[in-house]
Parts: sequence; C-alpha cells; structure tokens
Amino acid sequence: MKIFNDITALRKSLNSQQQIAFVPTMGNLHAGHLALIQQAKQLSDCVVVSIFVNRLQFLPHEDFNQYPRTLDDDCRLLAELNVNTVFAPDEEILFPTPQEFLLALPSVANTLEGEFRPGFFQGVATIVLKLFNIIQPHLALLGKKDYQQLYIVREMVRQLNLPVEIIACETVRAPDGLALSSRNQYLNKVQRLEACHLYQALLQIKKEIISGCKEFLTLQENATKDLIQRGWKVDYIRIQKRSLLTPAQINDEDLVVLGAAWLDKTRLIDNLEI
Ligand code: PAF
Repeated sequence: MKIFNDITALRKSLNSQQQIAFVPTMGNLHAGHLALIQQAKQLSDCVVVSIFVNRLQFLPHEDFNQYPRTLDDDCRLLAELNVNTVFAPDEEILFPTPQEFLLALPSVANTLEGEFRPGFFQGVATIVLKLFNIIQPHLALLGKKDYQQLYIVREMVRQLNLPVEIIACETVRAPDGLALSSRNQYLNKVQRLEACHLYQALLQIKKEIISGCKEFLTLQENATKDLIQRGWKVDYIRIQKRSLLTPAQINDEDLVVLGAAWLDKTRLIDNLEI
C-alpha cells in the first residue's frame, strides 16, 4: 500500500490506472468506512482512500480540533484490506494558500444540515471537488448515513458534468441500530445506550408511514417531543421527498426521514429511506 502526502507523486502513481474507485474520508475509520472500501474493492482493482480532516466544513465553534485523528491505526486497517493507495495530505498541500475559490451551492444546501451548519456543504463540496480533481476517480463511494451530503455531491457531479460515477452505500449500524459514526466515540456509556433512540424515532415514523399515515407534520412533531422528553435537543426530524430533498407532500411516494439531534455536546444524524 502506498501512502501519499504529495499531489504530483500521487498523480504519477495513478496515471496508468484504468479504473479508480475512490473513498473520501476524514479518517478515524470504522466499520461503515470499511464497508465502503469493501464495496470499492469489488468494483475496481485500484482503490484510493483519502484521509483529510477538512476545516472548510467545520464552523468556528465546532469540533475541528477535537475530531479524532488516528492516521497510523487507519493506515494499518487499510493495509489489512489491501487498499492500493492512501492520500493523506497535510493542510499545506491542499490549502497552500487560503481556499478563496469556493463553490456556490443550490438552496438545498441551506436546508436540514445546512440550516444548522451554515457553510457546511460548501466546505464539503469544495473539498470533494478538489479531491476528485486530484485523484480523477472513475467511481466514488459515499455512505447513505450522510444522506444530504450524498445528494449534494451527486448534484454537483451532475450539474458540473464531472466524469465520475457516485455509488451510494448503505448505512452500517451497531446491533442496537445506532448508525456508525466517528462522533459516536464522544458519547459516554449512558449516552451510548440512549443514542439508538434517534434511529428508533425514525423507525417509528417509517413504520407509521408504511402503515398508511400521511400526517407528516404530526409524525415529525411526535418524534421530536419523544426525543426531547428523553433528554435530547432536537435540531430537526423531517420527512422529505428523496428525489429533491424537499418536504414531503401527501402524494409523494419516494420518501426519506432524516433527523439530527444532540445528546449533551454530541450531535448525531441519521436517516431512513421509506
Ligand atoms: O463524509 C465525510 O467524511 C466528509 O464529509 C468527506 C466526504 C470526506 C469530505 O470531507
């Protein structure tokens, strides 16, 4: 496995590859990332994983400094999986000067996560575009756990005609249903036991919709109230139309329910397609 910090050396090494499958990450790899990598390996002989904690996607008060950085462990895991190439650049490599060119995003980027984390998707889209330009992958694999991120990256690829196919991978969950996330490790034991209730709340909504309930606003409100009663601070629980990520209308069939909520200082997100 080759580990690169430098862009020129990385490009040279990837130059002759027919088909590159790319998994962008911020490191601190868990079974969710490993599932993406396994899927990438099935699709291509050349798998590139990037590890970069991207400050553009953190607000000033967010956990950029605290975000777990575990490069040596990550590389050990990736070597065990026979990943061909790791791109783990220092900040000066990706931002030799301040990143003043930023993508202007459509209004969907200001909803849901974007409403509570303004600028987040601009930071994500800008770094993903840079990584695509550096690595020039044929395929890129992203998890459904970050559903809106997946949606926005897909739209970016479509609207900017980027020559890469986006592959969506299912969320990997702990046995109690909690979606795997690097931020789960901020939870203490009691919070970890409670954490699966975000998933439970979304599951309850999914069940009610499947059994015919169309009272979307009531379902959202009830789930929010339940979580608040359990001690959560809820940013949003929303039932959206999958194809546009806009609020679901009564006759929409392609639905997804998304939620974001805090357990003390830890913010968790999750979603379920219906
Ligand atoms: O999902 C993530 O880990 C990040 O948002 C990504 C796609 C690697 C961009 O920094």
